[in-house]
Amino acid sequence: MKIDVNGTMMQAKILFSENDIHKRIKELSEKINADHGKDNVLVILIVLNGALIFAADLIRNLIMPTEMETIRLKSYESMSSTGHVQLLTQLPDLAGKHVLVVEDIIDTGRSLHFLLENLKHANTASVKVCSLLNKPEAREFDVTADYVGFDIAKNFVVGYGLDLDGRLRNLPYVADLLPQAN
Ligand code: IMP
Ligand code: MG
Repeated sequence: MKIDVNGTMMQAKILFSENDIHKRIKELSEKINADHGKDNVLVILIVLNGALIFAADLIRNLIMPTEMETIRLKSYESMSSTGHVQLLTQLPDLAGKHVLVVEDIIDTGRSLHFLLENLKHANTASVKVCSLLNKPEAREFDVTADYVGFDIAKNFVVGYGLDLDGRLRNLPYVADLLPQAN
């Protein structure tokens, strides 16, 4: 199939349909529910903007009392990593809290590594990570997620929150964007 990226038609292949994603979110949330239980508060720390849509669907399947916080990191320009991470917002106060970091994708691991280093100083009760997607072959930093939706190859993907230059987050599926334009 082809998708319109700022006026250029690019070749794309659907990797995970809306239905695939929702089935997997059910499974992930069941694991999180079983691990955390329904009594203690869990702070859902959403890494904006990419994880917004995933987190919105995930959180509605969780059974414990939740609080929502957001953080903005920036590490990507267009289709490649810039090599450094910026914290665009302040970390919320997470002292004494159980925290679930929700990410869209772990690629090199640089962003998550940076965030986890920052969280070390936050005096949290616990920190776990849930990422919709994971690219194990792209890893440069030693980080792992506790919950992963799907492992994928190193290719650049878009949709369901993931963007190319800020666009295509609204696609209801995850698609592999093949670089050749025609
Ligand atoms: P990392 O720091 O290299 O692990 O990259 C993490 C961030 O880069 C993710 O949270 C995404 O925002 C972005 N990113 C990495 N791979 C992709 C991709 O294939 N499509 C869209 N965004 C991506
Ligand atoms: Mg992200």
